[in-house]
Amino acid sequence: MFTLRCLRCNFLAGVEERGLTCPLCHGQLVIEYDYDAIAEKAREVFDGHVTGMWKYLPLLPLADMRNIVTMGEGGTRVVRAANLGRYLGLSQLLLKIEAWNPTGSHKDRQISLATSRALELRYQLALTSSSGNVGAAVAAYTSRAGIKSVIMVPNVIPEEKMIQISAYGGFVVVVDTPDNVEVANLVEKLVKEFGAYDMVTAAPHNPYTLEAGRTIAFEIFEQIKPLPDIIVTPVGGGGLLGSLWKGFTDLVKLGFVDEKEIPRLVGVQAEGCQPFVRAVRERWPLEKVLNTPWEQIRTICTALADTIPLDAMAAIPAVKETGGTAIAVSDAETLEAGKLLSSMEGIFAEPSSNVCIAAIRRLVEAGWIKSSDRVLSLVTGTGLKDLRSIRAVISPPTKIRPSLGEAVSIIRQFI
Ligand SMILES: Cc1ncc(COP(=O)(O)O)c(C=O)c1O
Ligand SMILES: [Zn+2]
Repeated sequence: MFTLRCLRCNFLAGVEERGLTCPLCHGQLVIEYDYDAIAEKAREVFDGHVTGMWKYLPLLPLADMRNIVTMGEGGTRVVRAANLGRYLGLSQLLLKIEAWNPTGSHKDRQISLATSRALELRYQLALTSSSGNVGAAVAAYTSRAGIKSVIMVPNVIPEEKMIQISAYGGFVVVVDTPDNVEVANLVEKLVKEFGAYDMVTAAPHNPYTLEAGRTIAFEIFEQIKPLPDIIVTPVGGGGLLGSLWKGFTDLVKLGFVDEKEIPRLVGVQAEGCQPFVRAVRERWPLEKVLNTPWEQIRTICTALADTIPLDAMAAIPAVKETGGTAIAVSDAETLEAGKLLSSMEGIFAEPSSNVCIAAIRRLVEAGWIKSSDRVLSLVTGTGLKDLRSIRAVISPPTKIRPSLGEAVSIIRQFI
């Protein structure tokens, strides 16, 4: 079981609390667990088999399992990237493929949990801002739950993502700004207007969304022994990175992992929108981070283009407390990294995910990652969702007449 505590005024609420922010002061709510009460159950749960995220129900904030809205999210594979690892000069590179979740990104975990809780709390309308991946997940899961969804998107969303959201039955509204945080602020007001459920995947909007990302850490713990030395993740709002860290600290609290074993966590952004990297590098206090938006978005990594890292409260310590780092890479490096990943390992990911491979390359070159380090990168979103930038760097198909001679000669040139 869990409780909700207000970060600002310490108000405590139980599982029946319907609000997503503090009912007294609108402060951010954090979810807390009674670790002593769940310790025994947790020992049963961590049995070395990775089946799906709802396996970890005793460690998730949902009161009644009958409210679970699921499509088999989580339980994602870790694969060894031997070719790419060798190419980058690493003895071991592992990839956890979150892109193969039901709607094509790691956000399915967060939205499966958030939708289940919305059902439990009897909401009938969900609203979110999204650069596409959250929107697709919200539309898909809420449709299953019989909840209506409105997805407000910035004007830079890839067409594939927009089509996907509409196909799942979400109502898409394009807001004429490239800034997802501006759209999220609009959502906050609309949520009040309609008494709706806020599904923006950042804890200040919806405290449940951060919790599901912890299951990625739980699965890594069950899949890889000993734990990797380094884990690399993309950063938009910072919820993914923050929740990974929260998951590992849960494992410490439960006595499964020693604090020293927690992998060094690396957060990656695109150079053209890197408020999180700037905040870490310049050691900004949280207050300043949350009040100083990045000014000009200049990147193809639209899923990471949050001008304020709304989950900085969890994401900054994730890097600092684990001895990790934050790094930004150029779009050219990201596109090149994506090509390497897909052509060497058969894993086609979107640019906002491929920043991690570009970052590993840089960090190896800089000597921050040693060749003996065991590195795990998350692959967060499928490449099928964002084709326009990738199209520019792949060779166009070769056209011939239906002639054996032409076919033979063209294939000879390729092999
Ligand atoms: C594919 C992909 N990777 C990474 C992220 C970053 O997650 P977060 O916003 O929790 O930092 C996002 C966020 O939208 C995403 O869509
Ligand atoms: Zn409060």
